Amino acid sequence: MKYPEVRLQRLKRNENLRTLFSEVRLDKKDFIAPLFVKEGTDKPHPISSMPGIMQHSLNSILDEVAEISAAGVSAILLFGIPQHKDSEGSASFHAEGIVQQAIRAIKHKYPAMTLIADCCLCEYTSHGHCGVMEKGGLNNDQTLKVLQKIALSYAAAGIDIIAPSGAMDGMVGAIRKTLDEHNFELLPIMSYAVKYASCFYGPFREAAGAGEVFTGNRKHHQMQPTQRREAMREVQLDIAEGADIVMVKPGMPYLDIIRDVREHFNVPVAAYQVSGEYAMLKAGAKAQLFDELCAFHECFISYKRAGTDLIISYYAKEMANYLNSTAR
Ligand code: PBG
Repeated sequence: MKYPEVRLQRLKRNENLRTLFSEVRLDKKDFIAPLFVKEGTDKPHPISSMPGIMQHSLNSILDEVAEISAAGVSAILLFGIPQHKDSEGSASFHAEGIVQQAIRAIKHKYPAMTLIADCCLCEYTSHGHCGVMEKGGLNNDQTLKVLQKIALSYAAAGIDIIAPSGAMDGMVGAIRKTLDEHNFELLPIMSYAVKYASCFYGPFREAAGAGEVFTGNRKHHQMQPTQRREAMREVQLDIAEGADIVMVKPGMPYLDIIRDVREHFNVPVAAYQVSGEYAMLKAGAKAQLFDELCAFHECFISYKRAGTDLIISYYAKEMANYLNSTAR
């Protein structure tokens, strides 16, 4: 059958029909909101490259979690900005470190919120690299030992999910091993399994307070944008090492990879709408090139269509409020 018997317009004649026949839907429960918490401050600091996003204090982060929770988003991803950085990033695993304190404070006040913490050294090292440096570059295996300490300190503070993001070889296995040895065998790992060396992380440097110090690049451990087969190897290895959830990052330039991961593996998939994607959409909307909510909504739909289960986005709270206010 073809036209005129077939008319694709029949199912899109009004909003109700279009909603009824939507192939994918956005749900506020799809979202994870990343939050920055800064040591040694008592008020939030706006991040100029990411309009609307703050480096929070231990107090202001509680207010933000209240708003996120009221919007119906039930998971957050924590990043810490320490007051003192050193070459080993030792502030990352202190029991009284900023993330560890934030975990305890948020858990105490909002026990139903799922807390995920980024597990990497780049916010904590004086050189801004994701690991321990030696003459020839990053020392992968020494870095694993520090990542194990970070993971244990998060676990002791009461984290719900650990998210290693440093793209070190063997990082998931190393963290799984130490968690299991310390009776945290039920603590899940969300691995930044497919992490590209992307220029879209630009605004994050300011957000994480790494902008001033970092002059290198991460091409020795993160993936080149050209790699599709390698992405499958990364996921395969991380699952074999014990990853419970795998992430693709960034999202928008890598929708094909999200689709590949979805089709080849059967673990939950998360996609990260990174700082540069957020900043780009905000800038476009500010320049009145398009409507902000509509642009974010369309991008999130593309993530879902590509096959992701979860979306990590700085826009999570706004999108949840929008979804609450409409029948979408
Ligand atoms: C590493 C980490 C980065 C991001 C999340 N975790 C920076 C990097 O890998 O260079 C980037 C997130 C974003 O751009 O929004 N701790």
